[in-house]
Amino acid sequence: MSIDPHKENLKVGVIGAGAMGRGIAQVSVTGGMQALIFDTADGAAQKACDFIGGMIDRSVEKGRLSETDGSNAKNNLIAAEKLEDLSDCDLVVEAIVENLDVKQKVFQQIESVVRKETIIASNTSSIRIASIASACTHKDRIAGLHFFNPVPLMKLVEVINATETSAETIEALNVIGKRMGRVPVVVKDAPGFLVNLGGRAYTTEAMRLAAEGVAQPHEIDAIMRDACGFRMGPFELADLTGIDVNFPVSQIIYSGYFYDKRLATSPIHESMMEAGRLGRKTKAGFYDYDDNGQIIYPDLDPKIKDNPAARAYVPEDIEGLEPIARDIGLSILKEDDGISPILVAPVGEDCTSVVHRLGLMSKEP
Ligand SMILES: NC(=O)c1ccc[n+]([C@@H]2O[C@H](COP(=O)([O-])OP(=O)(O)OC[C@H]3O[C@@H](n4cnc5c(N)ncnc54)[C@H](O)[C@@H]3O)[C@@H](O)[C@H]2O)c1
Repeated sequence: MSIDPHKENLKVGVIGAGAMGRGIAQVSVTGGMQALIFDTADGAAQKACDFIGGMIDRSVEKGRLSETDGSNAKNNLIAAEKLEDLSDCDLVVEAIVENLDVKQKVFQQIESVVRKETIIASNTSSIRIASIASACTHKDRIAGLHFFNPVPLMKLVEVINATETSAETIEALNVIGKRMGRVPVVVKDAPGFLVNLGGRAYTTEAMRLAAEGVAQPHEIDAIMRDACGFRMGPFELADLTGIDVNFPVSQIIYSGYFYDKRLATSPIHESMMEAGRLGRKTKAGFYDYDDNGQIIYPDLDPKIKDNPAARAYVPEDIEGLEPIARDIGLSILKEDDGISPILVAPVGEDCTSVVHRLGLMSKEP
């Protein structure tokens, strides 16, 4: 027997009232469902409800939500005092620390309080769902429901189909994901799933470039943001996600793919973790932050800032790189002049390997 995902007053339990738990609870109530938030830290669940209430008020002010929908959503938000308060939930989504042992224990606790058909999902970024489920009794109702940060803005949600997850559970999560206003995509239960594996190089290559002293984090971010059109650079993203999330995620994916070197992060990543510079949440990470929690950007070298590149050298034309460079107004040099940027497209290999293969390291920067 499975739950009815179309049920009007569907109850979603959210465990963990951090960045992700808050977002998941918010999209649940704006999607017309009830959300009960539980967190072991004192007062954290209530603080999360107050925060979400403020976000809903802002949506109403901006006309994105009607007053009635806003007030219904706020009424559907409940701070749970104990885990047992989630006993009649139809779905429980866990969003606590990225650690297998801790998640397994919490899943066992959830199983001991909810009904046999309640779906239990993890928002884990990288841990195999089958590993979490191995500690549980009814594995067919266990799956992944992986949202992205910030949840209300990021439409995608990965529905992770583990070896023993039932078809009914996956179907129900698809329906509930849509009710939350997301776009659910069913993916396999592999380390990093789809997005965190596919987008791995955005983190690992950036860390490696910074570790090798090729460029500073704020310079790499400026290039990815301002020249390549990404919403955030890799270090801004790492600080937003939290180093205590993305460092373990990097380790789990690296070991999960049997230490494939292309997936390795860099020691500077671990240094941040060890130093407790966890990003925005500690107001210190790859960046420093002001009292309002805004990044304090170091000045960009004026040579870069005021004189954007007019020429580039393209040592090999992979996937039409040269036409793209021409399209953005660069003139292409026949030979490396030693000062202009060199454009490469490291498809299927890492940046360091391409540079090595093409003999580009021997030239002065
Ligand atoms: N931060 C991101 O960008 C992001 C994106 C996608 C997925 N995730 C995943 O979501 C999960 C949570 O990440 P986050 O960034 O929200 O973390 P966070 O540190 O912001 O919040 C975690 C919360 O869980 C609470 N908690 C810890 N142990 C608990 C327990 N046993 N029972 C109840 N509450 C407990 C903590 O008090 C804290 O409030 C992780 O698995 C992470 O990998 C994070």
